[in-house]
Amino acid sequence: MSDDASEGRGEPSDRRFGTRSVHAGQSPDPETGAMAPPLYQTTSYVFEDADTAAELYALEGEGYIYSRIANPTVRTLEDRLASLEGGAGAVATASGMAALDSAVLVLAEAGDNVVCSTDTYGGTTAYFAKTATRREIETRFVSTLEYEAYEEAIDEDTAFVHVETIGNPSLVTPDFERVAEIAHEHGVPLVVDNTFATPALCRPLEHGADVVWESTTKWLHGSGTTVGGILVDGGSFPWGEHGYEEIAGQNHAYHDVDFSRDFPEAPFAETVRFRSLRSLGNQQSPFDAWQTLQGLESLPLRVEKHCENAEIVADYLEEHEDVAWVTYPGLDSHPTHDNASEYLSDYGGMIAFGLEGADGSDPSARGTSSRAGYEAGKVFCESVEVAQFLANIGDAKTLVIHPASTTHGQLTPEEQEEAGVTPDLVRLSVGIEDPEDILADLEQAIDTATRACREG
Ligand SMILES: Cc1ncc(COP(=O)(O)O)c(C=O)c1O
Repeated sequence: MSDDASEGRGEPSDRRFGTRSVHAGQSPDPETGAMAPPLYQTTSYVFEDADTAAELYALEGEGYIYSRIANPTVRTLEDRLASLEGGAGAVATASGMAALDSAVLVLAEAGDNVVCSTDTYGGTTAYFAKTATRREIETRFVSTLEYEAYEEAIDEDTAFVHVETIGNPSLVTPDFERVAEIAHEHGVPLVVDNTFATPALCRPLEHGADVVWESTTKWLHGSGTTVGGILVDGGSFPWGEHGYEEIAGQNHAYHDVDFSRDFPEAPFAETVRFRSLRSLGNQQSPFDAWQTLQGLESLPLRVEKHCENAEIVADYLEEHEDVAWVTYPGLDSHPTHDNASEYLSDYGGMIAFGLEGADGSDPSARGTSSRAGYEAGKVFCESVEVAQFLANIGDAKTLVIHPASTTHGQLTPEEQEEAGVTPDLVRLSVGIEDPEDILADLEQAIDTATRACREG
């Protein structure tokens, strides 16, 4: 696990990643001595007097007004994640999707466009293709590794460029620095979804990204009990120079405040707070933030074990005669193994693979695999016993899903293909159980799926 993340807000520079996972953003409660972060399960905060109240509303004082805008427990999570990502500030949201929606609200308006790589989570693709369009924001999808395509797609109405650190579920890692350079040459920020890597493996802000967002629902929390999201502001994009009026300039939606002037360290994050959280209610609940803080304490340890187990499982699948193909960024055979080696400190806990299906006659049939591979993927998911068949990733438990019939089922076959979702693809989120038990479970589920498809 890499130790050298740059320091975050208010953190001594000599504290390393593991230490900051446990301590950043928090110290024992000065009044009670409580060591764990207190859960401030409150909607509002009593004002000291009328002048203080007026100052808080005018954003001229430090303090809390209402938990739709900010809450001390949520703030601890925000500060910790800003520190872990090496950002200048952060805002927690109700879900990963709420984080994306918040970024779009602040960065784009009707008539603008977004340039997004195709190796992207199905929910994000659907959001851009079917929801952002309701606000007349167009998305131009470009093949993730075709860098000229980004260049061609960007024009004067482009609001931002979007990529994922490790694409869901293709596990493709782009050359961030190259994409960032292209975006910056055109005066637009690079926004990165770092959900699959987490800051334990990659900090995109160190590679040219301007904004990072994540679903905290996955590895950051780690136990599958809360849904949440985070947006981290790198703090260095020159918003004013490039005409981002919500962030730099008098914001008529909030008392004519100029966020870049009043919050120079993290103006994007604070604009999100006062525009998206305040006006759309995209905030994270204190209880969810409190739970995620517990999970974050063990993030580096868990991620290390996820990676260790995933490597064992990838090697096992690669050798298995009933497995047609395996994708894992740590395998030399992965098309972006080199980018992953450059940008990640390890290769993560996600694997995708396809089963031979009915007759096993075409082991190179990735992408062309027939109905048999599709059916085999479904039966495999129904047959696991240690692993769980469900729609999440990043839990301590091993999780499986068949994207073509579920998460990506609403995309057209062409869109599925562009997103790297072949009909037979099984997505595996490798947990932290004992690897022998994971392998035994996979063995019996592969056997059941292969036999069922060959017989029927
Ligand atoms: C890569 C990625 N980004 C974003 C999301 C959305 O996060 P949430 O479910 O917390 O809204 C997901 C959900 O699976 C995801 O896999």
